[in-house]
Amino acid sequence: MQLADPSLLKTGLLLNGVWQQGHGNAVNSAVNSFVVSNPANALAVASVSSATALDAEQAIWHAVQAQALWQQQLASERALLLKSWYRLVLEHQDDLALILATEQGKPLSEAKAEILYAASFIEWFAEEAKRLYGDLIPSTARGRRLLTIKQPVGVVAAITPWNFPAAMVTRKLAPALAAGCAVILKPSELTPLTALALGELAQRAGFPPGVLQLLPTIEAAAVAQVLCQSPLVRKLTFTGSTQVGKLLMRQCADTVKRLSLELGGNAPVLVFADADLTKAVAGVMAAKFRNAGQTCVCINRIYVERSVYDRFNSLLSEEIQQLKLGDALTPGVQIGPLINTAAVQKVSALVQDAISKGARLNCGGQGSALGESFYQPTLLTEVTQEMQLMQQEIFGPVAAVMPFDTEQQAIAIANQSAAGLAAYLYSSDIGRLWRLAEALEVGMVGINETAISTEVIPFGGVKESGLGREGSRYGIEEYLEIKHLCWGGLAQS
Ligand code: SIN
Repeated sequence: MQLADPSLLKTGLLLNGVWQQGHGNAVNSAVNSFVVSNPANALAVASVSSATALDAEQAIWHAVQAQALWQQQLASERALLLKSWYRLVLEHQDDLALILATEQGKPLSEAKAEILYAASFIEWFAEEAKRLYGDLIPSTARGRRLLTIKQPVGVVAAITPWNFPAAMVTRKLAPALAAGCAVILKPSELTPLTALALGELAQRAGFPPGVLQLLPTIEAAAVAQVLCQSPLVRKLTFTGSTQVGKLLMRQCADTVKRLSLELGGNAPVLVFADADLTKAVAGVMAAKFRNAGQTCVCINRIYVERSVYDRFNSLLSEEIQQLKLGDALTPGVQIGPLINTAAVQKVSALVQDAISKGARLNCGGQGSALGESFYQPTLLTEVTQEMQLMQQEIFGPVAAVMPFDTEQQAIAIANQSAAGLAAYLYSSDIGRLWRLAEALEVGMVGINETAISTEVIPFGGVKESGLGREGSRYGIEEYLEIKHLCWGGLAQS
């Protein structure tokens, strides 16, 4: 990897403001580091030191010390540091995108877009830091004043996924830091390098020691357990699978920690006969194949009104067959590899299950000669609700299309999921769009639009898709406690 600034490639832990090896390395460095590889070719990119449970305990201790001072800083002082971090991320965006694309596999153009998306959260929350207002509540008794103030929740543990190694980090860290919390981040072991580079830039921006600490690790379960069970950590924010989210939630129960969970989705899109089909296909292509289908808000289930079903499928098929599959750094590539071969096996099994239950394979449906982590963009039609790929996240480049007949049926099948993150609608009937937007059991609805994610919107889901919202003016509230002050004795005696 040819970086303009090679010192951005960090491979250690960031503890109390110092890059260092994990405790395990002192014992046996061969066992206590792990290799990060490029999913396109399985070649090693870097060897990263692995944090242990002991490192996590030390990080918590440092964070508690740092927290006491950090929360005393003026909001404007915290904002200035965040703004410096933001500027450094923009300055180094090409290097960051290269690191991200190399360890994660998404096309360089998408990696660049993700770095800007990630930076936008830092800028947004630098601004929000200065707007943490309390209230003055009309009193219920003479001589009393009722107030609220907002205070940081305390030390935060953040656990982030591999599919957006930059944006999911800043979407958590920036509001937490802005609110006055010290943060300990455990990035995914599959893509820690982007997070470590962001940490290096935060160091250069001048965050005080211990305010932001990074624990890359292959001992994810042990480190997460320490973070979840410590009474000194007051909040866990996690993005990842619903299964792991539930486990972490249980581990946090004994200390009654505040939780933000951004878990799995199973987003439906409903395309009605009165929709602009060209726009609907373009929207489905963008949301289905972003990051090779590895996003939580990805369209997972495509429902199309029967009278336009065949025409929609033929337009979609034409577009899918033009997608260029390849290595992240090859110009013009639109679909990269999946994160690893296990992901390919999972996607392949879902496709086989659908075909065995009667789905028709229109295109794709297999791996690629490019390498073991690639899966060809695929279109399946005649899909039914019983097939596994309609019931769980595909997390791969597979479009599965099923017809529907009425609006009522469309609502019922769209809501037939334990997940409730996002849904998308295509129609030209305003009344229907309102009815559906209100009836869908999700946190976010794209209406004649699928590019819903920005820093200004509240990102999050209902049902088993999680708790809380990230981004927007609501995102910082997740890191704040409201304290009530009841001030008496103010009447003249
Ligand atoms: C995700 O897939 O978890 C995040 C996607 C986004 O922010 O758009």
